[in-house]
Amino acid sequence: MDRKEFIKSCGYACIATVVSSALLESCSTSTHIASAVTSGNTLSILKSEFVTGKKEEFRKFVIVNSSKYEYPICIYKINDTEYSALLMQCTHNSCELNPQGTFLVCPCHGSEFSNTGVVQNPPAEKNLQAFTTTTDNEKIYIHL
Ligand code: FES
Repeated sequence: MDRKEFIKSCGYACIATVVSSALLESCSTSTHIASAVTSGNTLSILKSEFVTGKKEEFRKFVIVNSSKYEYPICIYKINDTEYSALLMQCTHNSCELNPQGTFLVCPCHGSEFSNTGVVQNPPAEKNLQAFTTTTDNEKIYIHL
């Protein structure tokens, strides 16, 4: 390999590295596990769990774990005052769901649910178990 070919192949390698890292960053799904405080049958998390740290960028959902359920709970921010809290257990055959943007997908047979837990695609026929949520100025309360 002569000098010119070597420099050319180094340039291609640099471009490929920059492009692939940009693609990987844009494709990554950021699943954030929120810190929850349990009090009786209520979990509470800070609303700030939805803040990403980037200016004016917010997470669509966060995940919390509860000792009461075998499956995690996905909390979606519907708007500034409304949140949904959904048990991540598929109603078809109990596989754990994957949140993807504003919906949850079952990796087992492909059922899809909206961010309020409503079935969008079969084979599941029942909506997800949803928990009542309430809020105050700084926290979201999930009533189990
Ligand atoms: Fe979820 Fe079958 S277990 S679609």
